[in-house]
Amino acid sequence: MDLYIDTANLDEIKQVHAMGVLDGVTTNPSLIAKEGVDYGKRLSDVCKVVSGPVSAEVVATDFEGMMKEGRERAKIAPNIVVKVPCTVEGLRACKAFTDEGIKTNLTLCFQPLQGLLVAKAGAFIISPFIGRLDDVGEDGMILIHQLRQIYDNYGFKTKVLAASIRHPKHLVECAMAGADIATVPFSVIKQMMSHPLTDTGLAKFLSDYKKAFG
Ligand code: G3P
Repeated sequence: MDLYIDTANLDEIKQVHAMGVLDGVTTNPSLIAKEGVDYGKRLSDVCKVVSGPVSAEVVATDFEGMMKEGRERAKIAPNIVVKVPCTVEGLRACKAFTDEGIKTNLTLCFQPLQGLLVAKAGAFIISPFIGRLDDVGEDGMILIHQLRQIYDNYGFKTKVLAASIRHPKHLVECAMAGADIATVPFSVIKQMMSHPLTDTGLAKFLSDYKKAFG
């Protein structure tokens, strides 16, 4: 399972990149707005740190607007993936970008038929939002299983990217369900290599070593 970080914060991206396990980055308008920086400049700076796919979202909601913005975003760097919403206009844009050789990430996916249609339109990535489904009393993981099965049934190459990850258990379940990618907030990435028994076990090894060998 590829690991992306879900942030527009450069320090967080650099820290996870330094761990040697970062495959890509997802951003969205909320994440870049939170940084208080220029939208395009921040995307360009992220692409200077990470060579893997960097998702750059459009804010237009009509087909023509999405195409215009998406083409501009795609010029920022060769690893930009244009992110468009799972709407009818987004579906049209997905097909048109695919025909132009521009990779897409179809975001805000909340049900499997959105995933079926965007795969038919050639989406590079589909982004089901697990946590937000859990927030409204549904089970987001079911959507990951549904998309995995549908894509496997028909040999679609679209990658299932689990988004809106809130805690490590989501990640374990995504990996077991066969998600291709998980995009994870910095706080949860830090939890991935952490366990209290690792810490206490290491402290005991070191104190035993010191007692015996000085
Ligand atoms: O990339 C966006 C997605 O991961 C959103 O997460 O926590 O705002 O639902 P969240």
